[in-house]
Amino acid sequence: MGEGLLAPTISSSDSAAGISAVTLETIAAEVGTPTYVYNAAAVRGQYGSLISSLQAVPHRIHYSMKANSSHAILSLLRELGAGVDIVSGGELFRALRAGFRGRDIVFSGVGKTRTELREALTAGILMVNVEGEGELYLLNEIAGELGLVAPIALRVNPEVTVDTPHPYTRTGERGLKFGIAYDEAIPVGRLALSLPNIRLRGLDMHIGSQVSSLEPYRAGTERLLQLYEKLRLEGANDIAYLDIGGGLAVTYDDEKATDVEAFAAAIHGVIQNVPLTLILEPGRFLVGNAGLLLTRVLYRKRSGGREYIITDAGMNDLLRPSHYNAYHHIESVRPTGVRGVFDVVGPVCESGDFFALGRSMDAAEPDDLLTIRSAGAYGFCMSSTYNSRPRAAEVIVDGDRWAVATEREEYADLTGHELTELAWRDV
Ligand code: LLP
Repeated sequence: MGEGLLAPTISSSDSAAGISAVTLETIAAEVGTPTYVYNAAAVRGQYGSLISSLQAVPHRIHYSMKANSSHAILSLLRELGAGVDIVSGGELFRALRAGFRGRDIVFSGVGKTRTELREALTAGILMVNVEGEGELYLLNEIAGELGLVAPIALRVNPEVTVDTPHPYTRTGERGLKFGIAYDEAIPVGRLALSLPNIRLRGLDMHIGSQVSSLEPYRAGTERLLQLYEKLRLEGANDIAYLDIGGGLAVTYDDEKATDVEAFAAAIHGVIQNVPLTLILEPGRFLVGNAGLLLTRVLYRKRSGGREYIITDAGMNDLLRPSHYNAYHHIESVRPTGVRGVFDVVGPVCESGDFFALGRSMDAAEPDDLLTIRSAGAYGFCMSSTYNSRPRAAEVIVDGDRWAVATEREEYADLTGHELTELAWRDV
């Protein structure tokens, strides 16, 4: 995990840190723990910095809602003017519920079902980012049944080298399951042009997540433009969008966040002479450092020379450390100045249930409150009820007020869909 003995400095982009200790204590007292706490100002700040960097580039921001699909966050981003990037029928349902219109939505994903495609076309979405021939035929058929023409982008694997902190978050390298293999993009494009109920509106890529370097974006965008030129020669006259995905990086520890000014300049350099609107699908960049997980220390314990801090949040609440070995900064809400080296672990019955290993940090005692930082993206939305632990609550803070955004689940929610009387059927 690359943790030094010194506590890392939290960058100013971690505005969730701006929520006062008093507010966090009030939230813990009134809502309980574990609770996700989001700072609306931090989301606004990130959104604002992105759009002001992109002023010279015709663009649309489609927030990748898989990062955090809670209604309060969706509403906030809708008010700011964002559209959304969805990956399932469930996300479409949430997006429409939050007030996004069909034309605010693009639909990505490697395995879209017939039902999901039908729902998306019925909602009149901007584009389906198609991943292959099979999906194209299916979409053509469904569009025909609905008496519609399906607007699509071809999601192409640009086959560029990408460096991300974990291999699971790379998507734009050769041989991965995502996108149309680069050398098949032209034949698939020809197919799209030949199908009566398909309209080719865009080209799309997504290279990975937490990508701070600009080069793979520049190289990938150039490769999309080469396809654009070739497809135009094949009669593709309706291409209006160039979707270059999400993946912009934030700071968790001491890594470099994406310099959005430099990012925008690099992309502008590549696309300035083509009449295309840029689409970006940022997720983590907009919400990652706008949220924290508030948890209470249950116990301290010593075992085999290790010092443990046991919290009431577990890997079911925040999976990232366990699943990706991801670093999340951890701080006491009221630091005492007494420090030590600890494993911060949850109550789940798995040795992989940890938030930090061998971490130099405040020596928190039972009943103390801790914040697990940079948990606004891929936190709550990846949580589960493993060990039959009801999901945490979510709270949003906006200036001098705060509100519960999602109530804590109750035990009855755990069994809501389980049948105690089984309706047996003959085999
Ligand atoms: N667009 C597409 C097609 C994607 O697959 C993703 C993320 C995004 C946009 C947004 O990426 P972002 O801007 O948030 O990096 N659970 C992992 C991250 C998985 C990302 C999957 N795709 C994590 O916790 O790090």
